[in-house]
Amino acid sequence: MASLRIAVAPGDGIGPEIMDATLDVFRAAGVDKAGGGVEFVTVEAGASEFAKGNSRGLTDAAVKEIESGGILFKGPMETPKGGGGKSINVTLRKLFSTYANLRTFRTLPGVETLWSRAGVPIDMVVVRENIEDTYGGVEHRLTNDMVQCKRLISAPGSEQIHRFAFKTAESLGIKKVHCGHKANIMKMTDGLFLERFRTIAAAEFPGIEAADVIVDALCMNLVVNPTQYRMLVLPNLQGDIVSDLCAGLVGGLGFAPSANIGKHISIFEAVHGTAPDIAGKGIANPTSLILSGLMLLRHVRLVSHAAAIENALLATLESGVHTGDFNKSSPKPAVNTAGFVRAIKDNLGKAPTTVPAVKVAEGATGAAIASRPARPTEPEVIRTFANVRSKVVGCDVYLDSAQRPTDLAEGLNRLTEGSPLKLTLISNRGTQVWPTGSVYTECVDYYRVRFEPRDRSAAAGVDQPSCLQLLMHLAEKFTICSYELLREFDGVRGYSLAQGQ
Ligand code: NAI
Repeated sequence: MASLRIAVAPGDGIGPEIMDATLDVFRAAGVDKAGGGVEFVTVEAGASEFAKGNSRGLTDAAVKEIESGGILFKGPMETPKGGGGKSINVTLRKLFSTYANLRTFRTLPGVETLWSRAGVPIDMVVVRENIEDTYGGVEHRLTNDMVQCKRLISAPGSEQIHRFAFKTAESLGIKKVHCGHKANIMKMTDGLFLERFRTIAAAEFPGIEAADVIVDALCMNLVVNPTQYRMLVLPNLQGDIVSDLCAGLVGGLGFAPSANIGKHISIFEAVHGTAPDIAGKGIANPTSLILSGLMLLRHVRLVSHAAAIENALLATLESGVHTGDFNKSSPKPAVNTAGFVRAIKDNLGKAPTTVPAVKVAEGATGAAIASRPARPTEPEVIRTFANVRSKVVGCDVYLDSAQRPTDLAEGLNRLTEGSPLKLTLISNRGTQVWPTGSVYTECVDYYRVRFEPRDRSAAAGVDQPSCLQLLMHLAEKFTICSYELLREFDGVRGYSLAQGQ
């Protein structure tokens, strides 16, 4: 039996074509015979599973294989837009807590871009948080006119990703890491992400410079002068968008590899999708999946095999061999996937001449090592701030109502007479509309109404039960969509103010 088993899910659309191509190159380079032997085990996941009515999109046998080997190598998988099943790609990342998405963007020889034509080489790493943020996919229809997606950012989740980024920077010799964020607007969520970045940097990685940049400015800077960044770490959604922008700088999604790294399980995949427009034609570009496979090989310490394949790929690109999706103005005709793979296999043992060849680090054995922490017996609870004293100081209630703010306030005041809590604020889409506000603020049928202690003496009686009693009164006349306790943590306000408050 092989010493290392790697689960392979070929995926949908062009997935099987580019996976076959990649494994063909790997075998030609002797990956399957490395160390005690590497076995690629095909597992079932993706559109074919959804079609069978399996709403998770992957079989129990696939889960077992991935858990036992700790690695999944996957092709792109289809996700319906708008309605339909959950994204299998996101499910896989979340199910196995692959909290860090690592993508590298490098100018490749023979791949024409605006920047390569300008003679500016790009070499950048993006680390994207992979589990939290809006990708929790916690969404609800709240009223006739309002839907919601919850954005969740945790302290331990942020710490994990920042620690991963700094450690990766150390291993790659990167001296400066930028945290991209929108903490000027989302002061609590992005604020926490940024605060943990600064804390981890100062406490654990004093040798690396930690800087931050607001994500909109970051996007402009990346387009104007990308070389000022070496490594970026971002929350999930912003990281998703910024990493595609970076892919554009080096020739598009076809050249961007991606690794999803977790404590126990890691997933390696191409960044692009299933390319339904060219699926089945045998013309897809396998570069992104091959580069992702190289990240996999390095993850299991097969560094000499990775170096040999990377050098052959670079030599192939450098020689002008290309598939139809890039270098469209090249005088050389495009080759198909099989032709591209043949060229890489022919170049095994060769090195590129216009860019430095990839060297194998000294001491690299070329033997597969797959060391992992022991399997947990149940899901682990990860914590950062365990000893904080919190106190309830009121509650925000979210109502389905199409009333005008003053009418709403009158009704709420009537209903809550005699409660230790009184109405202090009404906001709509985050903007205060009562007790003061602008007549120009348009409202929709979903209000936040804030209740706080009626007076100082009532403050002592405010706790979770008194808030729930208040909700019971409100429920007599209103549809309550949800509520949030207002709490202070170690005396610090744990909720935002309304715009205009
Ligand atoms: P896409 O990346 O599949 O295609 C965009 C364009 O790029 C198309 O014109 C396509 O032909 C081209 N393209 C992509 N990869 C290529 C390759 N290797 N060689 C040559 N041309 C290539 O993006 P799209 O059309 O938005 O998504 C299609 C499906 O893929 C959707 O169901 C989407 O949800 C899924 N998807 C899956 C991902 C994953 O599995 N990680 C990532 C992104 C999308």
